[in-house]
Amino acid sequence: MRSKLFFAFFLVIALALLSNLIFGEKIMRDFAAYEKGTREDHIYWLLASVENSYNYDEGRWDMKTLDNTLHWAAMLRLDCKVEDKSGRLVASSSQVVSRLSEGMQRKMQIIGLSGIGPYESYPLFRLGRQIGFLAVRDIATESTLVERKERAFKERGRQFLILSFAIAGGGALFLAIVFSQFLSRPVRELKDASEALARGNLSVRLGGTGPDEIGRLKAAFNSMAEALQREDALRKELTSNVAHELRTPLAIMKANIEAMLDGVIEADRQGLESLRAELDSLTRLIGGIEDLTKAEASFFKKNPPEEVLLREFLEGIMLGMMPLFTDRGLALELAPGPEFVVFTEPEKLEKVLRNLLVNAKNHTRQGGVVLRTGREGAMFYVEIEDTGEGMTPEQLDRIFDRFFKGRESKGFGLGLAIARQLVEVMGGSISVKSTPGKGSAFRVVLPANTPKTFLSEARR
Ligand SMILES: Nc1ncnc2c1ncn2[C@@H]1O[C@H](COP(=O)(O)OP(=O)(O)OP(=O)(O)O)[C@@H](O)[C@H]1O
Ligand SMILES: [Mg+2]
Repeated sequence: MRSKLFFAFFLVIALALLSNLIFGEKIMRDFAAYEKGTREDHIYWLLASVENSYNYDEGRWDMKTLDNTLHWAAMLRLDCKVEDKSGRLVASSSQVVSRLSEGMQRKMQIIGLSGIGPYESYPLFRLGRQIGFLAVRDIATESTLVERKERAFKERGRQFLILSFAIAGGGALFLAIVFSQFLSRPVRELKDASEALARGNLSVRLGGTGPDEIGRLKAAFNSMAEALQREDALRKELTSNVAHELRTPLAIMKANIEAMLDGVIEADRQGLESLRAELDSLTRLIGGIEDLTKAEASFFKKNPPEEVLLREFLEGIMLGMMPLFTDRGLALELAPGPEFVVFTEPEKLEKVLRNLLVNAKNHTRQGGVVLRTGREGAMFYVEIEDTGEGMTPEQLDRIFDRFFKGRESKGFGLGLAIARQLVEVMGGSISVKSTPGKGSAFRVVLPANTPKTFLSEARR
């Protein structure tokens, strides 16, 4: 990651350098073209002026104009020779300059006039006829103010390019360092933490969680690690609970069978029936564990909700369970209220309510159980209130834990854990209020999931 970032930034620097070079080259070339263009303009101007100094009618050169022209040419740093058709020298810069005073020559900075390289020759025309040649070359001079300015301009241009490159490159390098620190460090931390997690260190957590993306990623990692740790603890607890619950009935069965084999107790019907009772208990335990794991697994496999007429549905469940209550002389009632439709998972809801009703029956000696229903916004509730023994606050804290059971209980302490798991899978919650000696009321709140189409039909 870090090296990739650096590579990217070095690429940026290289591109900046390249564009600088291209840009610089172009500017310098444009400037050279400008200079060349200016020189060409001067030569054309010179040609026109020299041609004009020829009097065609009289067939001779006006030497005064020619001298002036060559004088100006010398000031433009051009060494010229004017020749006629036959190649005879008419006038030259050196002649003109030599006629000037020394002071003037110094002012023009052309003392000891000397040209650079060979002459370029241009034909001279007047009224369509050739009248001679103009030979031109540059004058070697000490640098003039203009030339110094031009050189300074070029130098400044070069400095500007170097400076702009230094700023762009330095900026990119600075950003590369900052980014690699700010971006790659947390990524590295996350990688290290994930590897630690994969190695089985479930207690690893990351600091520096915040509202930015990296902070949120760290927070997500932490909650994932926490969920894993909790799941791991639950799994260990479940395994040890199951082992513990299995050990007792198995030990009893083993002792009974050995006693029968040794002839200590008779292998009669009574002995076999007590063995079967232990086996039944084991089967129930396995069924309970199966229900619990299924409820937990259903978190990832939700069924679509079905249309349920709630009170009718409750009456069906109550009808099936009525004998359990009447056998103990207990009442089982549904408090009056309006019927309504909910969209829920009836199988899961039935399991939850059966667990609550069996508990209520088991812990109630007199009186009975009342069910209440109602709606709360987008949710509906079912309340199961008994007039039983109630629970202490310490009990209430733990009743939803797996394998927690009261001293009197003949079950495994799984019913409420299963119920809560199922309710949560359905997107609802379960709560309880209880007074010792007076009774308990469990309340299941679930989303009614009423579709919009259903609501508009119901209104019609
Ligand atoms: N309505 C109730 N009144 C009083 N105590 C209750 C009531 N419901 C639950 N309890 C207490 O909560 C404990 C846990 O209940 P839970 O249904 O999880 O397990 P269980 O009924 O003991 O066994 P299982 O349901 O696995 O057969 C019970 O053992 C009991 O002590
Ligand atoms: Mg129970």
